[in-house]
Amino acid sequence: MKRILVTGSYGQIGTELIGALRKKYGGENVIATGRKKAPDILTADGPYYRLDALDMNDLQNQLVDYDIDVVIHNVSILSGAGEQNPQLAWETNVQSAYNVLEAVRILGLNQVMIPSSIAAFGPSTPRENTPNDVIMRPTTMYGITKVAIELLGEYYTRKFNVDFRSLRYPGIISSEALPGGGTTDYAVAIFYEAIKNKRYTSFLSKDTRLPMMYMPDCIKSTIDLIEADAKKLVHRTFNVTAVSFTPEELANEIKKIIPDFQIDYKPDFHQAIADSWPKSIDDSVARKEWGWKPDYDLPSMTKDMIKKLKAKLSAPGK
Ligand code: SER
Repeated sequence: MKRILVTGSYGQIGTELIGALRKKYGGENVIATGRKKAPDILTADGPYYRLDALDMNDLQNQLVDYDIDVVIHNVSILSGAGEQNPQLAWETNVQSAYNVLEAVRILGLNQVMIPSSIAAFGPSTPRENTPNDVIMRPTTMYGITKVAIELLGEYYTRKFNVDFRSLRYPGIISSEALPGGGTTDYAVAIFYEAIKNKRYTSFLSKDTRLPMMYMPDCIKSTIDLIEADAKKLVHRTFNVTAVSFTPEELANEIKKIIPDFQIDYKPDFHQAIADSWPKSIDDSVARKEWGWKPDYDLPSMTKDMIKKLKAKLSAPGK
């Protein structure tokens, strides 16, 4: 049995990952943490504690007090927000990851998972079917922090035998918690607007293709990598993906279910960020080393997302 502590647990991924982890490992064995007051969803079936991962003393105390084996460090400032405040993004993303890796090393914990992103790639990376091992020269602060974290984690594995693992998540589409400050956020906002107002203005141009994944696949990839046999891992950082689409293709899929939905396009500063990222990802290394395989494609994701969000938005108080 594992005891897992998750940082940044009220974020887009954390909010749904916590529930899935508690189902698998038991409510009491999954400690949700964050800097804010906990939303109800995180306290319903297990503990939530305040934790700022920049506070090394508090971090180590909580890892000891709650007898933690595995840390999932989800704290991150995303790409768009990182360009608005690059200094804060560096401090938040890199310093907290360094603290977590150090704490895991000092306390001899079993495993640490820190997400990376498609943002770790840059304009000089081949943009179609981007391989796992390829040139990485990102031009956003968010991407730079993610490359730093990947390299630091892999250094801790080589040098100190820390069991570091990382997934380069693509854009994640989900119905529970909103993402904040990312470039792929349009692919979540579009669903809310389609259901509420039947209109959406995209901040990316209609033909901006980006790799994406539905939340159930994001959760599956995360748990599968945590559970993967360390002896089979040649790599420590893995590309994962499910689908790649453009805003126009997503809008057309939504129109199949909401026929009077309309979209227009007003690209803003996010466009330059998206243009520096891969259009599609080769995740064959993850498939080979730990059996990664997504369940959702564009039509099945769109259908499920609209169903879930309609139910959520029609609930009392929404
Ligand atoms: N969803 C992230 C972003 O757009 C990509 O990792 O910043």
